[in-house]
Amino acid sequence: MSARSQPQSDRPDQSAVRIEPWSEGDLALDQQMLGDPAMTRYLGGPESDEQIAQRHARKLLLPDSGTGRMFKIIHEATGEAIGSVGYWENTWRGEEIYETGWMVLPAFQGRGIASTATAQTIAQARVDRKHQFLHAFPSVDNAASNALCRKLGFTLIEEFESEYPRGKFMQCNDWRLDLFAES
Ligand SMILES: CC(C)(COP(=O)(O)OP(=O)(O)OC[C@H]1O[C@@H](n2cnc3c(N)ncnc32)[C@H](O)[C@@H]1OP(=O)(O)O)[C@@H](O)C(=O)NCCC(=O)NCCS
Repeated sequence: MSARSQPQSDRPDQSAVRIEPWSEGDLALDQQMLGDPAMTRYLGGPESDEQIAQRHARKLLLPDSGTGRMFKIIHEATGEAIGSVGYWENTWRGEEIYETGWMVLPAFQGRGIASTATAQTIAQARVDRKHQFLHAFPSVDNAASNALCRKLGFTLIEEFESEYPRGKFMQCNDWRLDLFAES
C-alpha cells in the first residue's frame, strides 16, 4: 500500500521529531547548515570548513564540561537528522546565562519542527536547573525565530546592536525565558 492510499491515522506524522545528543557523526549536518548562505542569512553568513569543524568539536565537549548541551533534531518518520538545537553558557549584562539557538533544514521548515524540538530542549534545561535564564538573540529580521520565541513563552527584553562575526553589525532582539518559573 502506498503512503498516499494509507488511511490518515496510519501515516507517519511528518512533523514529529525528537532530540538526541550531538555526536561525532554530525559534522556533515553542521556543514549542510552552517556552510549554507540561506541558512546563515541572519547569522553573519556561511562559515568556513575549518570554523565548522571547530564548532562541531566544541559542541561535542559541551555535556562533559557541564556548560550546556547540543542536540540534533531527528525526524521520527525517517530517522534522518534534520536540524540542531541546544543551549550553552554565556555572560550577558554581567550575569551567567544559558543562550539557545536552533536550525532546521529548509525542506523541513514551516511544520512546527523547531517549535517542538526547542520545547524539548527547554525541558532538558529546566531539568539541569543550572541557570535561571535562557536567552535567545535572533536578528530583528529573523521572523521565524522571533515568532518561535514568542510562541514558546520568551519575554522580549530589548533590541540591541550585535557585532557577529567581528566587524559585522546587526540589530538583534534579546528574548528571555525563566527556567525556574512554573512551566
Ligand atoms: C528559525 C527556524 C529554525 C524555524 O524553523 P521551523 O521548523 O520552520 O519553525 P516552526 O515551523 O516551528 O515555526 C515557528 C514559528 O515561526 C513562524 N514562521 C516560520 N517561518 C516563518 C517565516 N518565514 N516568517 C514568519 N514566521 C515564520 C511559524 O508560523 C511559527 O509560529 P506560529 O506557530 O506562531 O505560527 C528555521 O527557519 C531556520 O533554520 N532558519 C535558519 C537558521 C536560523 O536563522 N536560526 C536561528 C538562529 S537565532
